Parts: sequence; C-alpha cells; structure tokens
Amino acid sequence: MEGNLGGGVNNQIEVETPNNITIKGILGLLMANTEATDIKKVISLGMGDPTLYSCFHSPDVAHDAVIESLTSHKFNGYSPTVGLPQTRKAIADYLSRELPEKLCADDVYITAGCTQAIELALSILARPGANILLPRPGFPIYALCAAFRNIEVRYFDLIPGKGWEVDLNAVEALADHNTIGIVVINPGNPCGNVYSYQHLQEIAETAKKLRTIVIADEVYGHLAFGANPFVPMGIFGDIAPVLTLGSLSKRWLVPGWRLGWLVTNDPNGTLKNPKFVERIKKYCDICGGPATFIQAAVPRIIQQTEDVFFRKTVNLLKWTAEICCEKIKEIPCISCPYKPEGSMAVMVKLHLPLMVDISDDIDFCFKLAKEESVILLPGLAVGLKNWIRITFAADPVSLEEALGRLKSFCQRHSYLQNDHH
Ligand SMILES: Cc1ncc(COP(=O)(O)O)c(C=O)c1O
Repeated sequence: MEGNLGGGVNNQIEVETPNNITIKGILGLLMANTEATDIKKVISLGMGDPTLYSCFHSPDVAHDAVIESLTSHKFNGYSPTVGLPQTRKAIADYLSRELPEKLCADDVYITAGCTQAIELALSILARPGANILLPRPGFPIYALCAAFRNIEVRYFDLIPGKGWEVDLNAVEALADHNTIGIVVINPGNPCGNVYSYQHLQEIAETAKKLRTIVIADEVYGHLAFGANPFVPMGIFGDIAPVLTLGSLSKRWLVPGWRLGWLVTNDPNGTLKNPKFVERIKKYCDICGGPATFIQAAVPRIIQQTEDVFFRKTVNLLKWTAEICCEKIKEIPCISCPYKPEGSMAVMVKLHLPLMVDISDDIDFCFKLAKEESVILLPGLAVGLKNWIRITFAADPVSLEEALGRLKSFCQRHSYLQNDHH
C-alpha cells in the first residue's frame, strides 16, 4: 500500500499542524466545562466580540448602506481581488485624515477582516530564513500564521509597569538581517495599552535602525479613552515603512462583516517597488477578499457614520473598563498593574502563592468556568502564563455579575480565607 502511493499521501496527512494555542480553541474547551443552570447563566468575557452584548450595536447607517448596495443588484459579481476602487479610495481618504502625507487608493488592499490582512502581510514578507518580532503578550494569530509560513517567531516583551510599552532594547537584541518586521498592536489587545506619539516614534526609529518595517495592527484604532489619544503609526511612515492593518470590525461593531484592509504607509516608496506590489496583488488573487456588496457599502458607511456613534462606544468602553478595574481592586489574589486606556481587554495578574487548589492560569480558568460559569481567557493563550485576559466589551450588568462571581471564586480559593495562616 505504502509502496503504491509512494508515501506521498501519508506524508501529507502526517505533516504536523502548528500546535499553537488559539483563542477560539481554548474558549471552546472552557465553554464545554461550564455547568449552566437557570440561576447562573454563562457569562463570557473571553472573546473580543462586542456584538455578543446588545449595548454594542452597529450604526443604522451601516445597515442601510449594506441593504442599498445589496438591493441595487450591482454588486453580485466578483470585485477586483485587491478590492473595489471606490472602497480602496474611501479607506485611503479615511486614514489620510490623520496623516501628513495623503494615501491614494493604490496604497490600500481590501481583505476579509484584519485577520486576512495579517495573513496577507506575513505571506508577502515571508522568505527562507525569515524571522518576525512579535509582542508578548500579543495576538496569537500572528504566531500561528508565521508557523504556517515557516517564519521564525522572536518575542519581545511589553512592560506592564510602563503602560505595556515595547521593550526596545529587546527588539534591538532580537533583530538581524532576516527580520521581516516588528509587529505593534495599538490600541493593544490583550493589554488595553494606547501608546504615546513619542513611543510610536521611537518604535519607528528602532525599525529604521534595524532596516526593517513596522506592521501596525490598528484593528482597535480610535478606541482610546485615556490620557493618550490614538496616534496612527502611519504618521511615521517616512521614518520606516509601515504596513497598517485594520478593519471595520471593532470601531463599527461589525466583526462578522469581514471587511478589513492592508495599507502601505511609505512616502519614501520602498514598498512601492513594482515587484513587491506585484507580489501583494498576486497574493490578493489567492485570498479573494470580502463580499462585493459589503465592499460597495464602505464609502457610505465611512462618510455617514456620525461622531456621536463613535463617542457612545468609546464612552461605554471607558465605563466598563472602569467597572473592571474598580471591581478587581476588591478581589483577593489578583491584580491589574495597568488600567486600560483603549481597546476592549485588560491583563490581570494571578498571585498563585496566595491561592489554594489552583496550579496555573489554565487551571484557574477551567475551575472558574466550572464553578461560576464565567469564561475568561488564560494568559498562556496570549503568551503570558499565570495571567488572565478579561474582555470588558460587555454590558455593565453582566460585567458586574461576572466580576462578582470572580470575587466569590477567588475568596473561596484564597489561602488566607481558608485559614491556612
Ligand atoms: C489585535 C487583533 N488583530 C486582528 C484581529 C482580527 O480582526 P478581524 O476580526 O477584523 O479579522 C483581532 C480580533 O480580535 C485583534 O484583536
């Protein structure tokens, strides 16, 4: 048998799948571990999908725009694989509002959400021997995608005591001539950081020194509610080339619409090299991109969404982040070193020596799911063992209920409360 197939089929089947932990994978396991009752419904603060809570709903104008484009019957065909020209132009104009040098439609490639923009970025940059610098903690899709592309991953730490800033010395020590890029997520998932203008500039200067580029994940762009305003990395595109990744998912609260982008922010033209542009276009041919009628709705969505909608979301996130931090202060055995200033998540440290019956973050989350029907993400899933990630994009009532249950759980498992002193 083996001889007949020449080993080929078996070789394909037996090839190793990267064994990275995925957020969806681990949350699925946790969900299966809950014992929901009528009194205690399951509350998930694990996923970054705000639409699970009805207080986070997309603007009516976005729905109207999609209905209009669908019922026009004009957008049932294929779009160019790089995206509809009017969609590329609308995103270019939208991002240019904050940039010193205006983008043009050709700088923008439309993708199926920011996830496919990550896939596109890593695939076009991949080459034999390549490595990529990723933040730790970070967003696990980067490492998973790198594993499929045979790109070596090198992690640099984000520093909790410094607003989760990038450890730039670590970045310099890790990079070499095979480094294809430094990934920066701002506003940050999983930490809720919003970097200052100065820190972003320092990152760009570091990339320049290392002769590499910045991959700026701005999927949470504009979701900032602390002291630092959101500053797009593209502002520093003249220092080092920047690939900006984004989507409608978070700011417009439509993650299921799968509308994202990859943008070259590079006034010096390094990324405009015809060979590189050809490479991006060819990869877009493979990807296919989002549905044409969703793309066609984008110009109207961007032009007509009112500021009041954005302000409402940001204010709600500010409020729920506040609830989270205040409640955590009352809970034994856990602490939050940094109050989130943006995005939808916060990292919380577990003080395991103060706890009984809890061996690590995974054990913590599984026991919490079983005993309290509350789902939180173990830090290991985002690269930080013995921490947990809490998503605060939830309605205030459910959030308070979940944090109340978390408190009971921590009290029950606290060393002191169990009279072990
Ligand atoms: C940092 C980061 N990048 C990318 C994505 C993927 O975005 P999208 O849902 O638009 O594919 C997410 C989603 O949570 C994210 O948190």
